[in-house]
Amino acid sequence: MRFTHKLRQWIDARFPATKTYEKHLSKYYAPKNLNFWYLFGVLSMLVLFNQLITGIWLSMMYTPSIEGAFASVEGNIMRDVSAGWLIRNLHAVGASALFVVIYLHMFRGLLYGSYKKPRELVWLVGTGLYVCLMAEGFFGYVLPWGNMSYWGAQVILNLPAAIPHFGDLIATWIRGDFVLSGITLNRMFALHVIAIPLFLVFFVFIHLVSLHHVGSNNPEGIEIRKQIDKNGIPLDGIPLHPYYTTHNLVGIVVFLIIFFSFVFFYPDGGGYILEPANYEPANPLKTPSHIEPVWYFTPFYAILLAIPSKLGGVIALISSVAIFFALPWLDKSPVKSMRYKGILSKIWLAIFVISILALGVIGATQLDHALLPYLSNQRLAQVMTFFYFLYFLLMPFYTAIEDFKVPPNRVTRGHRS
Ligand code: HEM
Repeated sequence: MRFTHKLRQWIDARFPATKTYEKHLSKYYAPKNLNFWYLFGVLSMLVLFNQLITGIWLSMMYTPSIEGAFASVEGNIMRDVSAGWLIRNLHAVGASALFVVIYLHMFRGLLYGSYKKPRELVWLVGTGLYVCLMAEGFFGYVLPWGNMSYWGAQVILNLPAAIPHFGDLIATWIRGDFVLSGITLNRMFALHVIAIPLFLVFFVFIHLVSLHHVGSNNPEGIEIRKQIDKNGIPLDGIPLHPYYTTHNLVGIVVFLIIFFSFVFFYPDGGGYILEPANYEPANPLKTPSHIEPVWYFTPFYAILLAIPSKLGGVIALISSVAIFFALPWLDKSPVKSMRYKGILSKIWLAIFVISILALGVIGATQLDHALLPYLSNQRLAQVMTFFYFLYFLLMPFYTAIEDFKVPPNRVTRGHRS
């Protein structure tokens, strides 16, 4: 005991360990009414950690060359290395799980206005994280060099070619070759295992430091730091540790049960986590009957294909993600939480969710098929893309004109005392 106490003193004299622990855990006062939706930030960290650890192991056994990549994944890792299948499944299922929890995490932000002042930077860094995750997911998908990896990369890496005049030059520069080749695969590998993970870890750090600087939002959208006791402690706050750390354990266990059910019993997710075409090696002479990205990219893929011109599709695709950066300045409502916003905000959020889900389904089915009678998928994608953008573009108007309820000063509901 004396030794650990002395060790702590020794470290504290040289590094602010106790101070950091107190600032971010034992004396970080989180609102007492955080609910289910506040679990997904922690789960994002957990799954990101899983990706980093299993990724390190996979990279020890993966061969980054077009001759060896497919065999190293489907042969060596999945069949020869002991527990290689487990590490690969943890990583592949983890990728889908990460996007599930991130989408729910982002939705919580929309629901409770967590992007609004003073958390704009938390949101901006979060959106930066999302862009990095998209890049990470795409590069990772190319690495097994299956037939869908190849054709998916073919489609995506050809997008810059839509830029007038310099397009082909830029596409060639990005590929590092005139066609998709081992050079391209090598750079995807470098980006996937080193560059993007460094950004991800750095951004998560900034995300959390900036959140703890301004304090967490909550389902009521009330700033708890405005009501403090004589010691400066928010009246409606409770220490993150041990209260929320133990509270979150329940959600973590439930999540892990679902996660491992997939890892052990349903790792390909019926073709949605690992697509059937990727069980065949890349074949430049054999285009899969139906090129589609993994489920988490299908809404954006549908936006890309909705616009008949290639350049227009690329601009719509980039804008559909970039517009998230503008969100803090588009919402003019005086209140944060959907609980106190007016009916227009609620309707538009519902339209946004419906449009993104519909785009997801369209992106996962062929565009020349029709999900609805009398309406081609392309036309449906155009309508849904239109509503997707309207949610953002009309926001300054409907949030400014609608009636809203005035939130109370203190947290009065949704907490256990
Ligand atoms: C690897 C990705 C990410 C990780 C590990 C992560 C982690 C976290 C954690 C641990 C929290 C605090 C707990 C919570 O409020 O849930 C948080 C809060 C937050 N995150 Fe993220 N996040 C990530 C991505 C994102 C993205 C993509 C966005 C939005 C575009 C975002 C927006 C926010 C916001 C606005 C908050 C504050 C929420 C509030 O106080 O109501 N995050 N994040």
